Formats: sequence, structure tokens, C-alpha cells
Amino acid sequence: MQSKISVRNLSMIFGDKKEVKEAIALVNEGKSSIEIREKTKATVALNDVSFDIYDSELFVIVGLSGSGKSTLIRCLDLLNKPTLGDVVIDDVTINKLSTKELREFRRNKISMVFQSFGLLSHRNVLKNVEYGLEVRNVDKVERRKKALDYIKVVGLDGWEEMKPSQLSGGMKQRVGLARALTSEPEILLMDEPYGALDPLIRREMQNELLSLEDYINKTIVFITHDMNEAFKLGDRIALMKDGKVVQIGTPQEFFDNPANDYVKDFIADVDKSKILKARSIMRKPDYVAKDDMLRTDLKDALEAKEMSFCYVVDKDNYLKGFVLLEDIKKSRASSIEGLIKENEIKVFRNDVLNDVWHHFDNADYYVAVVDTKNKLRGVISNDDIIAALK
Ligand SMILES: Nc1ncnc2c1ncn2[C@@H]1O[C@H](COP(=O)(O)OP(=O)(O)OP(=O)(O)O)[C@@H](O)[C@H]1O
Ligand SMILES: [Mg+2]
Repeated sequence: MQSKISVRNLSMIFGDKKEVKEAIALVNEGKSSIEIREKTKATVALNDVSFDIYDSELFVIVGLSGSGKSTLIRCLDLLNKPTLGDVVIDDVTINKLSTKELREFRRNKISMVFQSFGLLSHRNVLKNVEYGLEVRNVDKVERRKKALDYIKVVGLDGWEEMKPSQLSGGMKQRVGLARALTSEPEILLMDEPYGALDPLIRREMQNELLSLEDYINKTIVFITHDMNEAFKLGDRIALMKDGKVVQIGTPQEFFDNPANDYVKDFIADVDKSKILKARSIMRKPDYVAKDDMLRTDLKDALEAKEMSFCYVVDKDNYLKGFVLLEDIKKSRASSIEGLIKENEIKVFRNDVLNDVWHHFDNADYYVAVVDTKNKLRGVISNDDIIAALK
């Protein structure tokens, strides 16, 4: 996996100059934030944190109030300038950039969606969404076009003329999201975006975010203090406590190997079967064929890998079906085109395992996992699913 964001020995300390200086020495000695606060009165909101966020993943930071989540996400676009350590994005150490370089970096790479929506009350939906581009000096025609495009993406077409006061919480959040998307950032930062929404709307927004993700290829960093939300959304999750990351991993890894009792307590209320999704247990297939392959080449490849079957995709990774080695051996055709069979069972990557596991009883082979656009994202075997739900 390619690292998109690398957080290296990051510390953020709040206090007066003397306190911070004392606290830095104690952070370097490996002292806890609580000890340091007692000794120096400084708040160590982040205490020597290091981890990587991969390209295109939905990464969730979860933890109780005050654990340092917002401080951390604000360091990722340098709204907070870290006291110690580095934030490296696409191999650029962003805390070392000049003001001008940083402005350019923010313009192209990164957008933030806030919990409080941050909408301008006197502007209608369209103008609020356009605002993101206005501050970037994008010309009027392009601004309007992009704003209308993304209003559609978030499902608000028809509401362009409404003022924020006429919108529900969920709709306001969609406006904030559309505004963040207009600049087409590679990285989307979302600080408790659904915190102010009631549970029903919240669930709807979570599902929308998951399917939106199939259309916009972005690295998303999402903050929540709700463990169920974290597990529902996250490809990987970082659990924070007192400015430290206690554990980082996939939902499955949290359930299989909770790092300590704190983590165990934290996940105790999570209903695994309702939350684990296909994407959290799928694996990369050992081998995938391209639909324009020569039959003999595929025969050689499958025999070398001792596989009796494989999935077939086109050049853009859209799933075409599967082929069986026995059919390939029987055929005399030069291409594999006529040998591709359509999948009977297909699972979407955001399907909850509990809703789809019954399919696996009838599956002769491992099952293909696709996104809503039918791109092949991974595979799951019957054994995988049994192990995950046990
Ligand atoms: N600008 C600041 N000045 C002083 N202390 C701060 C500042 N920002 C954050 N803190 C402190 O840093 C710690 C972590 O705060 P942070 O806002 O990152 O927590 P959080 O995990 O986002 O909490 P919440 O779930 O309530 O949003 C807290 O003790 C907070 O009081
Ligand atoms: Mg916060």
C-alpha cells in the first residue's frame, strides 16, 4: 500500500513558552500527557504520534472527547503547526513549506469539512458551494459549472436557491461536502461531520459517503467519537487516548487482537455482525486476467499459479466475469473472450457480511467483491467469512 499521508513523531503542545519547553523535554523522555500536565501545566494534545494513511483509503480517527482527534486532523493541513515532528504528504514535508508553497498545497491537495457546516447564512446553496472556488479565484463560468456538478453529486439538485436556514442538518452537511469537493482535492478531511445529525439522517449520510467513495477517488480522513460509526466507515481505524494512538488497524484486526483492556472496553458495544463489511475482510486475488488475453497465455498463467479459475476484468478493472481452466484447456480459440462466464454471485464492498454470508454457501470459488461501478476490488472465500463472523 502506498502511503499518502505520513505522520512522524508528531507532538502538539499547548501552553506558555516556558511550559512548552519543559513539556518538550518530557515528551522526548517518553512521558505520558497526564504526567506532563501535572508537572508543567502544558497540554500535550498529541504525544509523539506516528502512523501512515494509505492512498485512497477511508481512515477513521476515533476517541473520547479531548483525546486529540481535532488537533491531529488540523495538523494534517497545518491549521495547527505541530510543536514537534513532521507531516509528510506525497513525499513533501508540509510543515517545512513556505507560506506561499503551503497556500498552493492547500489549494490543490486538501479540503476540510467541519462539524458546524461553516455555511454563510446570507448566501443560497449554490453560492455557498461556489464560495470554495471563489476564494481560490476560479473564474465565474467554471465556478458555476463545478458547483452545479457537485451539488448533484451530493444529491441537492433542485435546492440551489435555498438559504441555509431553510435546510435540515443533513442537507447543510451536504452543502459543506459539496463545497469541499468543488476544489477536487486528493485528500478530504472530515472532523465529526455527522456529530450534529440525528441518528436516522446520520445513517443515511454514512451510507452516502460510502457509495460516494466509489465515484470520487480520494483519501478520506474521518473523525468521530462513535465506535459504531468508526467501524462502519473505516478501512482502518486509529483509536486515540490522551494524545496517543492506542491501536491502529482494520475493524477485523481490532476484533481479533485488541491491544489492551481499554480497546476491549471500547469495542465491547460494537455489534460485529452488523458492522463488518465485505471490504473489511476482502483480499487481493492471487491473479486476475485481462479480457483481451490470449487463451494460451492465460492457461500458462493459471497452471503456473495452480489455479483452476480466475476473474476477468477489462483494462479499467471493470469485472467481466470468470474463466475456468478446464474450459480454457478444452477450447481452441485464440482469445478468452468466448470463455468468460458471468458471475452468479457478486458482493458489493460496502455490503454488511451478515446480509450476504448466505451467498457463500453456494459458492464453488471465492467470491468477487465489486464497488457500485462494478470494478473488482477484492475477493472473499467461504473460510474468510466464517473466520470473520465467528
Ligand atoms: N488551541 C488550544 N489551546 C489549548 N488547548 C487546546 C487547544 N486545542 C485543543 N486543546 C486541548 O487539547 C486537547 C485535545 O483537544 P482536541 O480538540 O484535539 O480533542 P478532540 O479529541 O477533538 O475532542 P472532541 O471529541 O471533544 O472534539 C484537549 O485537552 C484540549 O483542551
Ligand atoms: Mg474534536
